[in-house]
Amino acid sequence: MEDALNAVSIEGIVKTFGNKVVLNGVSFTVRKGNIHGLLGHNGAGKTTLFRIILGLLNPDKGSVKIFGVDPKLDPSIKSKIGYVSEHLAFYSQLTVRENLIRFGDLKGVSDCKKVVEDLIRRFELSDFADVKFAKLSMGTKQRVAIARAMMNNPKLLILDEFLANIDPVWRHRIKGILKDLKKDDVAILVSTHILADVEELCDYVTIIRMGEILYDGSLDDLYQKTGLKNLVAKINTNNNNKAYEILACINASKAEDGTLIVPVRSEEEVSTIIQTLVDNKMSVYEARVLKPSLEEVYSRLHRGC
Ligand SMILES: Nc1ncnc2c1ncn2[C@@H]1O[C@H](COP(=O)(O)OP(=O)(O)OP(=O)(O)O)[C@@H](O)[C@H]1O
Ligand SMILES: [Mg+2]
Repeated sequence: MEDALNAVSIEGIVKTFGNKVVLNGVSFTVRKGNIHGLLGHNGAGKTTLFRIILGLLNPDKGSVKIFGVDPKLDPSIKSKIGYVSEHLAFYSQLTVRENLIRFGDLKGVSDCKKVVEDLIRRFELSDFADVKFAKLSMGTKQRVAIARAMMNNPKLLILDEFLANIDPVWRHRIKGILKDLKKDDVAILVSTHILADVEELCDYVTIIRMGEILYDGSLDDLYQKTGLKNLVAKINTNNNNKAYEILACINASKAEDGTLIVPVRSEEEVSTIIQTLVDNKMSVYEARVLKPSLEEVYSRLHRGC
C-alpha cells in the first residue's frame, strides 16, 4: 500500500565495491513535501545511494521503498521520480528539443510535444531549443537536465549536485521552482556541497561520513545540537548604553557597531529581553538571534564537538 508520509524509506543499505565498504547500514526517510539534503565529503557515497534508490545499482544488503512500494516488485512506481544525475546523460548530437521529446516519448508522457514546449518556455530555453546538446555551456546543460526531470510531473525529485554550474540568477529561479514544488507536496532529495543552498532550501538533512550516518534530522535540530553554546541575540535600541546596564546581569556585551550581543539559550528568550527593555520605556529597533552558519555547524559536527 502506498505510504501516506514517506516518499523514500531506505533501511540498512550496505554497498561495497571490491573490498571497499562505501555504505555501511544506511537508513533514513524522505518525507513528502520536504526538501531533504544529503551531505557528505567527496566520495562519501551520495551518488551511490541515489543510484541505489533509483534502482540503477543493487545494494549488497538493505531495502528501498518508494512511496511505500518496493520498486523491484512494482517498477511502475519509478514513473513518479524525476532525476538529475551528476553526469548528464543526453544525446550530444541531438538538439535540446529533440532530446526532450525523445525522453518524453520514452517515458510515455502524454501530449509530449506540448509539455516540451511548456518546459522550453518555463526554463527560457527558446534560444537553445534547436542547438545541439554538445554545444551548450555547462550551466545550460544542467538547466536542460532539470527541465527534463520535471517532464513527468514527478512526485519525487532527486537532484545530484544540481546547482553546481548554474549562474546566480538561475540558481535563484530554480530554488523558487523547488519551493513551489514543495508546496505541491513533492518530495525533493538533493545533494550539494553548497551549504548556503542547504541553509536556504532544506528542511531535513542527512550527513554521511565513512559509509555511516553522522546526522539525520531537521536543520533546526542540527543547529540546536551543535550550535547551542554559540546562540546569541543582537539587540539595537534607542539607548544602547542604558540597555547595556539593564542587560549586564545576563552577560550582555557591546559589539563594534554599538549594538548589544546577548547570549541566549533559545529564540524565545529574545522576547523576554524585548519585554524587559520595553518595561524600561525603551524602543527596540532590532532584536534577532544570530545563528552560527551551517558551514560552522558542519565542521564542528565533523570534529565531533
Ligand atoms: N562503480 C564503481 N566502482 C568502484 N568504486 C565506485 C563505483 N562507484 C563509486 N565508487 C566509489 O564509491 C565511493 C563513493 O562514491 P560516490 O560517487 O557515491 O561519492 P559521492 O558522495 O557522490 O562523492 P562526490 O561528492 O564527489 O560526488 C568512492 O570511493 C568511489 O570511488
Ligand atoms: Mg556524487
